[in-house]
Amino acid sequence: MKTSGLESFIDVLPAPVFIKDTKGTYIACNSHFAHFLGLEKDDILGKKASDICTVYCAEEYAKKDTELLQNPQKPQRYEFMITSRTGEGKNVVFYKNALLDTDGEAWGIIGCIKDITEHRHRQSSLEEFNRQLQQRVEKEIAEKTEKEKLLVEQSKNALMGEMIGVIAHQWRQPLNAVAIIAQELKLDNDYGELTKEAVEYYSKKLVSLVEHMNSTIDVFRSFFKRGEPHKSSVVGILGESIRLLSEELKINSISVKINGDDFELFTNTSELKQVFINLLVNAKDQINSVMPKSREITICLDKEAHSIEIADYAGGVCESIIKSVFEPYVSTKGEKGTGIGLYMVKMIVEDRMGGKISVTNKDGGACFRLDFKKM
Ligand SMILES: Nc1ncnc2c1ncn2[C@@H]1O[C@H](COP(=O)(O)OP(=O)(O)OP(=O)(O)O)[C@@H](O)[C@H]1O
Ligand SMILES: [Mg+2]
Repeated sequence: MKTSGLESFIDVLPAPVFIKDTKGTYIACNSHFAHFLGLEKDDILGKKASDICTVYCAEEYAKKDTELLQNPQKPQRYEFMITSRTGEGKNVVFYKNALLDTDGEAWGIIGCIKDITEHRHRQSSLEEFNRQLQQRVEKEIAEKTEKEKLLVEQSKNALMGEMIGVIAHQWRQPLNAVAIIAQELKLDNDYGELTKEAVEYYSKKLVSLVEHMNSTIDVFRSFFKRGEPHKSSVVGILGESIRLLSEELKINSISVKINGDDFELFTNTSELKQVFINLLVNAKDQINSVMPKSREITICLDKEAHSIEIADYAGGVCESIIKSVFEPYVSTKGEKGTGIGLYMVKMIVEDRMGGKISVTNKDGGACFRLDFKKM
């Protein structure tokens, strides 16, 4: 019997091992193999796979055995899902070799089974866990992006409200002038003094007033349009921001002083204007609420360090919120503030421009410092 030496050998192996002849009949197996199939050795030996396995498994084994016997020099290794007659599934790997006689003819097949059900199970749990984790991360990111979009929108609306107030200020004076011209026209007419020259004079004045009002609107329209980033002078952008607030600053008797040398930044100008306007409006609000002796806002440019400091002398940021002042919804202005202004400022300076913003209370006021990378 060819298997006699092999039988005792396979019996000591710690894994299910079987030997079949070339017709597919089990001629030897170890107790692990019997146990694996849930059978006794005697139920297996002398039988074929079709007698002890499901039809599907038996057909697959026959196919693979034929392949091996046609190519006996090539060991076989493949993964397979065994389903028992009771329907239970097991993931296994088959390691099979052809058994050759001294003439090199195949007389049988020896196979060993490795049960990887546990491993596959762990792997699929891990994959499921990873999939769920991925889903959660994606959901969180989507929610955060949505929240930020909303905040940007809210802040734009708040700023738009602020701007509309500013436009109203800028228009009040020319509108008053228009009303006065209307009254004068009527009076001149009532007294029969409405000469051709007078009509021409009033009409010229009206056109120039309307042009001034039109240009105010254009400035604000371009402010809300987002252009491509390009190299711009800091003093230039500061100048435009101050000009937008000029009427507001004038009415509140606030002066703005710029010290230091100008330098250039690669930026989207309307976004940087948004930064300056928010900081200037905050300083203005603080000056109006504290009424300090000095109603000045000082802006210091440091060309070497690429930094800008915007400072006022109105008491500084309340110590209880100074650490969280750049977080959204932090405000001491009640109904009058949304607390988004500085959050937006930080987002533009740090996320969009790659800079850094910080605040300190010094010289009796607040000092906001912006640091940018050199181009
Ligand atoms: N220059 C400043 N001096 C003192 N406190 C300041 C100054 N700038 C900001 N703060 C404080 O920081 C808070 C947050 O400012 P932020 O601009 O984010 O919101 P807000 O001005 O209250 O409201 P809004 O969203 O309308 O701008 C302010 O409420 C104020 O208490
Ligand atoms: Mg603000």
